[in-house]
Amino acid sequence: MRIGILTGGGDCPGLNAAIRGVTRRSVDTYQSTVVGIHNGWAGLIQGDTEPLSLYSVSGILHRGGTILGTSRTNPMKDPADIERIKENVKKFELDAIAAIGGEDTLGAAAQLNDLGIPMVGLPKTIDNDIMGTDATFGFDTAVSIATDAIDRLHTTAESHHRVMVIEVMGRHTGWIAIKAGIAGGADCILIPEVPKSLEDICALVKQRIKKGKTFSLVVVAEGFTLTHDKELVTQDDERDEFGHVRLGGIGEVLGAEIEQVTDIETRVTILGHVQRGGSPTPFDRVLATQYGVAAADLIHKGDFGKMVALRGTKIETTPLSDVAGQIRTVDMDLYEIAQVFFG
Ligand code: F6P
Repeated sequence: MRIGILTGGGDCPGLNAAIRGVTRRSVDTYQSTVVGIHNGWAGLIQGDTEPLSLYSVSGILHRGGTILGTSRTNPMKDPADIERIKENVKKFELDAIAAIGGEDTLGAAAQLNDLGIPMVGLPKTIDNDIMGTDATFGFDTAVSIATDAIDRLHTTAESHHRVMVIEVMGRHTGWIAIKAGIAGGADCILIPEVPKSLEDICALVKQRIKKGKTFSLVVVAEGFTLTHDKELVTQDDERDEFGHVRLGGIGEVLGAEIEQVTDIETRVTILGHVQRGGSPTPFDRVLATQYGVAAADLIHKGDFGKMVALRGTKIETTPLSDVAGQIRTVDMDLYEIAQVFFG
C-alpha cells in the first residue's frame, strides 16, 4: 500500500513518535510505502510531500514538534481545494491517509472519508478534549510542564505573600488546568466548564488569609469566563480557518480584579506555547507509538473512517463521524475532588 501521513492543527509533543509508529509498522510489518504530507491539509492541497523511509523517522521519537510541519488549513472551506486533494491523492497513488490531529483535523478527515478518500485518525492535542478517547497524546507533557511552573510559582508566592494567577491553555475545556491545578496544590481552579463570579474567587483568597495562609495560587484555563461577563478574553478579533479566535489574557483580567478586591499583591503568569514545546513525557511517547502502530494496522486491514482511541489501558477504535463536532469536557467527579482543596 501507499500511505499518506499528515499532522494538522496546533503541534504538540508526541507527533514525531506517532509518525515514527505509523511508518515503522507500515514499512517493517507490511512492506508498504509511506508518504509524508507537509503542513497538514495544506500539503495535500498543494501536493507538497516527501517520501518517509525508516531512515527519515530514525532518532525522532523523543523530539517535540513535527518533522512534517503543521498548519490550521481547513480543506473543506473551498470546493476547489477538495478537488485538488482528490487529484493529489490520485497523483501520489495514496491508498489511505493517517491524519494526526485534534477536533478540526479529525472533523475534516471524517468528511473527506465520506467523500471517498480512505482516512484513519490519530487523536492529539494538549487540550485532551477529543470525544471517543480517554486520552490524547501531548496532554500529559503539557500537564507536566504546567505543574512544574505551578511548583515554581508556589515558592515565590509564599515568600512574597502574593496571589499568583497562572493561565494555562485550554480553549474549550479545562483539562490542563484541573490536572496541573490538583497536582500543584492550587487554591482555586477556573475552567471553561464552570463559570465563576469574581466575588466567589476573591472569597476563596480571603478564606485563605483567615486560615493564616498569606498566599494563593489561582490556576485559570484560557477559555474560562466570569459568570457576570460571559465574554471570552481574546488576543484579537481574527479567526482562523476553522473559526477560532486566539484566546489569552483572562489571567491578566482576573489578576487586576483580585488585587483590587482583596488588596493583596497579585502577579500573573501566562504559560502559553511553552506548554506545547519540547520533548514528550514517557507516557506521551508510548501512547503516540501505540496510536501509530494501531493506525497502521487499521489501514492495512482496510478499516477506514475510524480513529484510534485509548479506553482504560487498551487501544480501541471509534468512528470518525462520532468524533467530529464533539468536545470531551472535564469529568465533574475530578472537579469535585479539586474543589475539596479550594480556599
Ligand atoms: O488546540 C491546542 C491549543 O494549544 C489551544 O489550547 C490554544 O487555544 C491554541 O491551540 C493556540 O493555538 P495557536 O498555536 O494557533 O496560537
